[in-house]
Amino acid sequence: MANNLLEGKKGIIFGALNEMSIAWKTAEKAHDFGAKFVLTNTPVSIRMGNIEDLAKKTGSIVIPADATSEDNLINLLEKTMEHFGGKIDFILHSVAMSPNVRKKRTYDDLNYEYLKKTLDVSAISFHKLLQTAYKLDAINEWGSVVALSYVAAQRTLYGYNDMADAKALLESIARSFGYIYGREKKVRINTISQSPTLTTAGSGVKGLDRLLDFSERMSPLGNATAEECANYAVTLFSDLTKKVTMQNLFHDGGFSNMGMSLRAMSQYEKSFDTEK
Ligand SMILES: NC(=O)c1ccc[n+]([C@@H]2O[C@H](COP(=O)([O-])OP(=O)(O)OC[C@H]3O[C@@H](n4cnc5c(N)ncnc54)[C@H](O)[C@@H]3O)[C@@H](O)[C@H]2O)c1
Repeated sequence: MANNLLEGKKGIIFGALNEMSIAWKTAEKAHDFGAKFVLTNTPVSIRMGNIEDLAKKTGSIVIPADATSEDNLINLLEKTMEHFGGKIDFILHSVAMSPNVRKKRTYDDLNYEYLKKTLDVSAISFHKLLQTAYKLDAINEWGSVVALSYVAAQRTLYGYNDMADAKALLESIARSFGYIYGREKKVRINTISQSPTLTTAGSGVKGLDRLLDFSERMSPLGNATAEECANYAVTLFSDLTKKVTMQNLFHDGGFSNMGMSLRAMSQYEKSFDTEK
């Protein structure tokens, strides 16, 4: 199926930890479609995961960076431009982490130092990345920056915790910076709001298996997989979506516009049968 949709495009992909990562699948797809890119993650994730295998497979180099560090981001962008001999065309921000979720602190018992970390890693890092790229003029005209979000930014889903607030901020940053970056440099910025997906970060969400089952039953097209998300990201990096910017784009099989589905209703009714 692969063709040269991304031929000549150069980019940076944040967040490939292991084969399950949405960023991993996106790197594989972007490679299939002809893109060249630098892979990045934190030094600890590089040690813990197997990003080097992905780098080998896709002919990429790995430049470590903590997405919350402005110095690291400057270094990453400068080294990437040096590596490619010029500006880049796309960036995937596939980065999130909540110490409150990890330490099982519920939303009515948040640790505020942890909350600051959640917001910094999962949302403010996106602003830092955009601001650094903007100041270094690192992205070509009609370039595309994509971050990953979740519907908990708009609707309350049990167990998503302070990540809901982080995603709301992330989507707002995409709009606010999308305006400036579009106006000044014709660079587009969007978020993809992805279905729940079985990954390392996803597994941290309370009751992920039941959430996956629920959204599968609620979505007319079923949950979107990581690979399908990668396909969508490729279209957003391509020139076929040049006028799409400042959007939160739902990639969730229709879940976000559902109230109640036949399949979910049937399951719900079964619970009454069990009670009887
Ligand atoms: N899995 C899901 O259900 C789901 C659904 C919607 C959106 N998302 C979003 O997709 C994105 C990717 O997550 P994933 O599900 O592929 O899980 P993942 O665990 O594979 O990826 C998360 C990545 O964030 C990186 N990261 C954490 N702190 C960092 C930091 N300070 N600097 C740089 N990188 C850092 C991790 O090393 C890891 O590679 C996240 O933004 C997540 O919130 C996931």
